[in-house]
Amino acid sequence: MKTLLLLLILIPLIYTLNLNSDAEKKARELLSKMTLEEKLEMVKGHGTQPYVGMTPENKRLNIPPLNMEDGPQGVADGVHFSTCWPSALTVVSTWDVNLMYKWAAAMAQEQFKKGTNVMLGPMVNIARVPHGGRNFESFGEDPVLASAMVGPYVKGVQSQNVIANVKHFVNNNQEIDRNTVSANVDDRTQWEVYYPAFQAAIDAGVGSVMCSYNKINTTWACENEKTLGDLKNKLNLRGWVMSDWGATHSTVKAANAGLDQEMPDDKYFGKPLVEAINKGEVTKERLDDMVYRMLLPMQEIGLFDNRPTGNLSVDTRSQEHSELARILSESSHILLKNDNRFLPLNDSYQSIAVIGYAAHDKLTIAGGGSGHVIPESTVSPLDGIKKKFTSSNVQYANGNDLQSAVYLAKTSQVAIVVVEVGSSEGDDRRDLKLPNNQDTLVFAICSAQPNCVVVLHVVGSVVMPWIKLAKSVITATMPGQQAGEALANILYGDVNPSGRLPITYTQNEKDIPVNSQKQWPGVDLQSDYSEQLLVGYRWYDTNKKDPLFAFGHGLSYSDFQYINFKTERNGDNLKLKVDIKNLSPRDGHEVVQIYLGFPKDVNEPVQQLKGFVKVFVKAGETVHVEHELTPRDFSIWDVVNQKYSVVLGQYNIRIGSSSRDVRVAKAIKY
Ligand code: GLC
Repeated sequence: MKTLLLLLILIPLIYTLNLNSDAEKKARELLSKMTLEEKLEMVKGHGTQPYVGMTPENKRLNIPPLNMEDGPQGVADGVHFSTCWPSALTVVSTWDVNLMYKWAAAMAQEQFKKGTNVMLGPMVNIARVPHGGRNFESFGEDPVLASAMVGPYVKGVQSQNVIANVKHFVNNNQEIDRNTVSANVDDRTQWEVYYPAFQAAIDAGVGSVMCSYNKINTTWACENEKTLGDLKNKLNLRGWVMSDWGATHSTVKAANAGLDQEMPDDKYFGKPLVEAINKGEVTKERLDDMVYRMLLPMQEIGLFDNRPTGNLSVDTRSQEHSELARILSESSHILLKNDNRFLPLNDSYQSIAVIGYAAHDKLTIAGGGSGHVIPESTVSPLDGIKKKFTSSNVQYANGNDLQSAVYLAKTSQVAIVVVEVGSSEGDDRRDLKLPNNQDTLVFAICSAQPNCVVVLHVVGSVVMPWIKLAKSVITATMPGQQAGEALANILYGDVNPSGRLPITYTQNEKDIPVNSQKQWPGVDLQSDYSEQLLVGYRWYDTNKKDPLFAFGHGLSYSDFQYINFKTERNGDNLKLKVDIKNLSPRDGHEVVQIYLGFPKDVNEPVQQLKGFVKVFVKAGETVHVEHELTPRDFSIWDVVNQKYSVVLGQYNIRIGSSSRDVRVAKAIKY
């Protein structure tokens, strides 16, 4: 019996190792046949047309081209005829690792059909600044949530013979002055907040990393020996590092610090690199290492056996992907407020007013910049509501004529106000308000019609001065092309909302973790990360500030009870067990979140997310949930010895439905 068990463990292990060593062997063999010129062709960009980044095919040695295309949430860069998915921050709001994998695989499938074999995503820069112009592309404010979700994303993409590219390494956490600012971060914060999601992507086998525009502690990211050294020697990247577009600033310094490929052109890694190699300033071994780091993932991820045949004009939309986009949007809508269980609406509401230009005239369903996906076939909130509520009289006012909008709301039985705020790469929002007098609109409508539901199409946190007037508030974040269908299914009650906040929604603009000019956007191009570990909810908790809606928050149409919470040692691990009982007559999902409070004397935040489990619980039933904390969960970064080290002592374990909705807790000694 034991032998059989051993074989069952060893065979897959040998197969995997064999697979890697096979790829390693092939990459080495190929490298040995390449001429200097052929190697140099691979470590530089060859323009931005038709693909946003390219290296040519090597016909002599049958090495495929690299066709790189944005972005983290679908085929971008002005390319038409692909699915306009919800954004990454939106899909992270599902807290569903299986859905994340499916989404990533579907996106990569479309990329592959368009001839892409390197997809420029995921983007895992921590949403440190609530105003961040690219927060919609990110995996939120917490390193554990981002880490848990980026692994399935990478595996999903690379399951389609497309190399993923985790970006932007590192500390590209603002867009203002992004090409020149220095992010000044201490080492412990780097390791405990900003590196983990990159580590998770590397652990998932990501083939490439993109170094960022900014400086880190005054040295450009793409020639930063410390961070690129950490990336390769401690985070153990086996793949290659490409620069962001135009983020290369030298030849010898960058090459020797660890940059492997200049994108999108050859200002530094073209002729200057040839000269540097001829002078011995960059060794041939280093050039071989650059090329090997590219050939290895190309072999492992199947690019040699699956050559790109499509082109960017191929229409990759499909009913299947449209369905998946709807499911992703349904699963990521977050019910923030629902007074007296006002939602879901039933058929008794015969007259429904849909208000606001964001409901139909101007859809904000995808963020801007290189990651913008063109929404071609869309379902607006108005379309979706009309299609769903067939027995109701659904009327629309875009709000330009405030009086008529108020009249419509007043004379209807319920008013659904849809509001929006977008953002884009290249700039941060200057405030957290809704633009274009939408707050005035919400105040007017919800004052006139107490049965008022506010739906947010937003790129992140917004302030809500009218919050007391709204009976229900739902955020769809950047919901993608099926926005209206997903919203209508939730409003009608066919879908029980299960999204949870991956970022904090603040009460007001001054109570945020980066509340000084020096922290953001910086003074004299120096952005000091003086909040250190206190990013997002960690700052609110530690400073005893109340957010408007907490990290991890999200209501359901069901109610869940946490019972039978137990902990038990399992070697060096700590096993947590809890039962989740659905008290309501409606099936639903609960996201069980595990927060850990460290011993006081190590200056960690009051609590931090260490794990989560999304469970489906049928009406009236109970589901058993288990999660194991490992020694790494009880460790902090030891700056002196440059390693994680376990902290022994008194811990608080809190398990609940959000960072502020703790249902069961206990103190334990580890
Ligand atoms: C951009 C972005 C990066 C993108 C690249 C190619 O400037 O920072 O995310 O992948 O250039 O478009």
